[in-house]
Amino acid sequence: MTKGLFITFEGVDGCGKTTQIELLKNYFEKLGKSVLLTREPGAKGLGTKLREILLNYDGEVSPNCESFLFLADRAQHIDTIVKPAVERGEIVLCDRHTDSTVAYQGYGRGIDLEQINLLNNIATSGMKPDLTFIFDIDVETSMSRVGKNKDRMESAGIEFFKKVREGYLAIANQEPDRVKLFDGIRTIEDIHSDVVKAVESKFILVK
Ligand code: TYD
Repeated sequence: MTKGLFITFEGVDGCGKTTQIELLKNYFEKLGKSVLLTREPGAKGLGTKLREILLNYDGEVSPNCESFLFLADRAQHIDTIVKPAVERGEIVLCDRHTDSTVAYQGYGRGIDLEQINLLNNIATSGMKPDLTFIFDIDVETSMSRVGKNKDRMESAGIEFFKKVREGYLAIANQEPDRVKLFDGIRTIEDIHSDVVKAVESKFILVK
């Protein structure tokens, strides 16, 4: 493989994507692939500072400011981590990416979706994931999995998360080729097996 792959994982907080990323990483590594596991916001360096503000700043943050901070993190992440790794032929598995901004800042905070798409495009220089998984869970399950220790985003309230979930369902509906939507309430093993099937039907994985 000369060029690697870029696969993103999405869903409301507590949807189980972090567990699924780990399992898919093990799957690829067993095939002898080089895998980079990363995340937004805050993979490393400057991103970790932006993450700290985004998740823990306790004063007012306007929706536009919040969007630009996520987008700034994304630009840095794509340019310094994701793109170089994909060009080296690695498989990049990323916990959240552009669809989070569409779902959380677009559907959740109400920022114009066309603007979000335009800004996402600028932040990524047009680079798109080869495949995206969205794990769908109901908002009540999300809230109970998150528990009492909520960060700034998780404290946004149940009505906000209902809109975020709607956003994810709309994205899956609009882009069925790139986005695979799975019911996140099933067992970890069942979901992993569907993830692997989707990967195997989309890519030819030569050693
Ligand atoms: P994180 O602790 O990484 O949440 P999770 O483990 O659920 O992925 O926190 C990231 C939070 O930031 C999460 O609530 C989603 C939110 N977020 C946005 O609102 N917009 C974005 O563009 C991104 C990348 C994340």
